[in-house]
Amino acid sequence: MNLGVTIIKGRRSVRKYKDTPLPEEAIHHAFDCAKFAPTARNGQPWVFGIVQNRETLATIAGLATHGKFIKDAPACFAVFGLRDEKFYVEDCCAATENLILALWSYGIGSCWVAGDKMDYAGDVRALLKVPDEYALVSLIPAGYPQEMTIPPKKELEDIIFREEYK
Ligand SMILES: Cc1cc2nc3c(=O)[nH]c(=O)nc-3n(C[C@H](O)[C@H](O)[C@H](O)COP(=O)(O)O)c2cc1C
Repeated sequence: MNLGVTIIKGRRSVRKYKDTPLPEEAIHHAFDCAKFAPTARNGQPWVFGIVQNRETLATIAGLATHGKFIKDAPACFAVFGLRDEKFYVEDCCAATENLILALWSYGIGSCWVAGDKMDYAGDVRALLKVPDEYALVSLIPAGYPQEMTIPPKKELEDIIFREEYK
């Protein structure tokens, strides 16, 4: 397997982290790789944030229904999209995955926590003082893995087709 494939296939959602802070180089490249995601009409309708303040992390964890583990993460990234852009969700999802894979290339685990469509999205946006024209698309708590689960993936032959669905 080449390096890219190894990184993509090795990634799993990590929800328990070591306390070790993230190196600045990894943070920089996580943001920068997010920026390199494809976007409709190259619109790049986004802003990316990182929270490392323990109190703010605890507040986000309190808001995120399925993201209580954010409280114990050394950092949490957030991806926001311009809500009036037609494809902001798709664009920001692409950026989210780029960011997650960039972190993983440094051995840093993370977990995509739903933002868009969740009741708490507006509260997280307000907490981080992001302007109302943006919507929260994803939260990405991150840290060196303390524990990792390996959920099974569907078999390739069950989910692919060539030329026509059979
Ligand atoms: C759009 C989206 C929203 C998700 N939201 C949550 C979430 O709120 N909390 C959580 O623990 N995991 C969340 N996940 C992570 C999934 O549970 C995880 O990707 C899935 O179980 C497959 O496991 P894997 O990432 O290890 O392959 C989300 C993933 C996606 C793509």
